[in-house]
Amino acid sequence: ASFLLLNGPNLNLLGTRQPEIYGATTLADIEADARAHAGARNVDIVALQSNHEGALVDALHAARGVHAGVILNAGAYTHTSVALRDAISSVELPCVEVHLSNIHAREEFRHHSYIAPVCIGQIAGFGATGYILAIDALIAHLDMV
Ligand code: DQA
Repeated sequence: ASFLLLNGPNLNLLGTRQPEIYGATTLADIEADARAHAGARNVDIVALQSNHEGALVDALHAARGVHAGVILNAGAYTHTSVALRDAISSVELPCVEVHLSNIHAREEFRHHSYIAPVCIGQIAGFGATGYILAIDALIAHLDMV
C-alpha cells in the first residue's frame, strides 16, 4: 500500500521559514522520515509539494484508486480553499490533516479549517512529528496494523 504525502504553499521553505513557529526541519527531512517510518510498516510514501491550489487538487484526483490514504498539510489553503475540501470529498480517500503549529493557539483566521470536516482527523502543534503521527493514524484507521 502507499500513502500520498501532500504539502501545500510555502512548506518548501521549511527549515528557514519562521523556524520559531515551524521548526528547523526541512521538507526533505520530513519526507525522508515519513518514508522510513512508513516503510518499516510496509507502506510506501509518495511525496509532493506545491504552492498552487489547482496542482494540489490535481494531485488529490490522481491519488484516487492509487493510494490508500492521504496526509495533507494544506498550509494557508486550509483556511481558504473550498476547492481542496471538495477534492477531498470527491476522491473518497481517508485524509489526515496535519499542521506543524497549533493553529488553534494562533491568529483567529487560522482557527477555521475548511478541510477538517472532510478529513478523518486533524493533528496540529506537534511539529514534524505530526507527519509520523498521521502515518500511524492512517494505518490504524485502515486497520493495517
Ligand atoms: C500550517 C499552518 C497554516 O496556518 C499556515 O498557513 C501554514 C503552515 C502549519 O503547518 O502549521 O502555511 O499549515
